[in-house]
Amino acid sequence: MQIIPIASGKGGVGKSLLAANLAIVLARAGRRVVLADLDFGGANLHLILGMRGVTAGVGAFVTNPRVEFASIVRDTDYENLRFIPGDGEIPGIANLGSGQKRKLQRRLRGLDADIAVLDLGAGTSFNVMDFFLLSRRGIIVTTPTPTALVNAYLCVKNALYRLLTTTVKRGSDAEKLLKEMTRDTEQIQRVYLPDLVARLEEVDPQTIGRYREASASFRPRLVMNMLDDPKDAERASRLRRSCSSYLGVELEHLGIVYRDELQDISLGSHLPIVVYKPDAVLSQAVERIADKILETSEDEDENSDEWMDAETSFATASAEAESDFQVKSDYVNELLRTGALSHGDLLETVKSQQIEINQLRRQNDLLKAKIVKAARMGFDVGTGPWRNR
Ligand SMILES: Nc1ncnc2c1ncn2[C@@H]1O[C@H](COP(=O)(O)OP(=O)(O)OP(=O)(O)O)[C@@H](O)[C@H]1O
Ligand SMILES: [Mg+2]
Repeated sequence: MQIIPIASGKGGVGKSLLAANLAIVLARAGRRVVLADLDFGGANLHLILGMRGVTAGVGAFVTNPRVEFASIVRDTDYENLRFIPGDGEIPGIANLGSGQKRKLQRRLRGLDADIAVLDLGAGTSFNVMDFFLLSRRGIIVTTPTPTALVNAYLCVKNALYRLLTTTVKRGSDAEKLLKEMTRDTEQIQRVYLPDLVARLEEVDPQTIGRYREASASFRPRLVMNMLDDPKDAERASRLRRSCSSYLGVELEHLGIVYRDELQDISLGSHLPIVVYKPDAVLSQAVERIADKILETSEDEDENSDEWMDAETSFATASAEAESDFQVKSDYVNELLRTGALSHGDLLETVKSQQIEINQLRRQNDLLKAKIVKAARMGFDVGTGPWRNR
C-alpha cells in the first residue's frame, strides 16, 4: 500500500481540499483508497466530502479500547473510497500519547487498500511529523506567500530532525550529544542540520550511517496552491534551493493549483469540486497531480532511483502555471464571446475588485500606523498579543 500523508506547516493552505479531492480521483482511477482525517483537533474532512452525522472516528479509536479500528473505517458515496473521520471534538486528542500514536500508525499501515491518503493538521510538531514520516515521499502543500513558504521549509526541516531523533538509539553517545546540542527550542531553530549530523557522526558513525541511509530516500513532494499569477510559481524554486543547500533534501514538484472561485460554490453545494465541476481548472489540476502519483506508484519502491528528475518536475510545474493561466483567460473570453458575460459585467467585476483592493490597502496602512505608534510607546510587539497572529 502506498501511504500519502499531506502536511503543510502553515494552516489554511488547502491540505484538506487536496486530500479529499485527490482521494476521490485516485478512487475513480480504480485504486482502493482510504482517506483518513488525522487533523487532531481540527477535523473537517467529512464536511468537504459532504458527509453529515459522522460520529466515531480516530478520536474514539485512540481513547476507547472497545472501539474496533474496522468500525471507524466507513464506506462513502464513492466507489473504491473509504473514509476514517477524525472527530476532533474529543478533548485532549490533539496531544496524542506515543502509545496511542503507535497503535494508530500500526493500523493505518495494515489497512487493506492500495492507497491511504492522510490529511494532517497544520504545524510541524512531532505528532504531525510522525505521520508525515509514514512515507518518505509525503506531500507538502504551500501557497506563494512568504509565511507559507517558510513554514513549508520548516516542515521539511522538522521532518528530517524527527527522523534523526528517532534513528538515534536511546542511551547512546549520539543521543547524549544530540540532547545537549538541542536543549531548547530556540537552539533547535538555529541549528544547521548538516553540521549537527557531522558532529554526531564523529561520536557515533554507525547510527549516523543509518540516518543517512534513511534520509537519502526522503524526498517530499511539493504542491503549490492558490496561485493567482504564473509568476507565483517561481517562488517554489527558492524553496527548492533552500531545502537543497541547507538541508540536503531534493524536493520534487507535484504541481501547481490556481485559486478557483468555483471552490466556494462547491463547498456550499456540499460536493467536492472534482465531483461538482470536474472540468474546473482546480479539478483538472488535482487530476494532473493524481496522474503523476499514479505514474510513480506503478513500480512503487521507495528506494528506487527512477524518480522524476527534480529539475524536470519544477520546469513542468512552471509550464503548467502558464498553461492553466491561459485556460483561465480563455474561459473568460469564451464567456464574453457567448454573451454569458458582457463587457459591462467584466468591467463591473474589475471595478469592484479595485474597490476591495483599495479598502484592504487602507486597512493595511491603518494597521501599520498602529504598530508604529505601539512601538513608539515602548510596547514590545514581539511578546504582545500580536505574537500568535
Ligand atoms: N485552489 C483553491 N481555490 C479556492 N479556494 C481554495 C483553494 N484551496 C483551498 N481553498 C479554500 O481555502 C480554505 C482552506 O483550505 P483547507 O481547509 O483545505 O486548508 P487546510 O490546509 O486543510 O487548513 P487547516 O490547516 O485549517 O486544516 C478553504 O475554504 C478552501 O475551500
Ligand atoms: Mg485541513
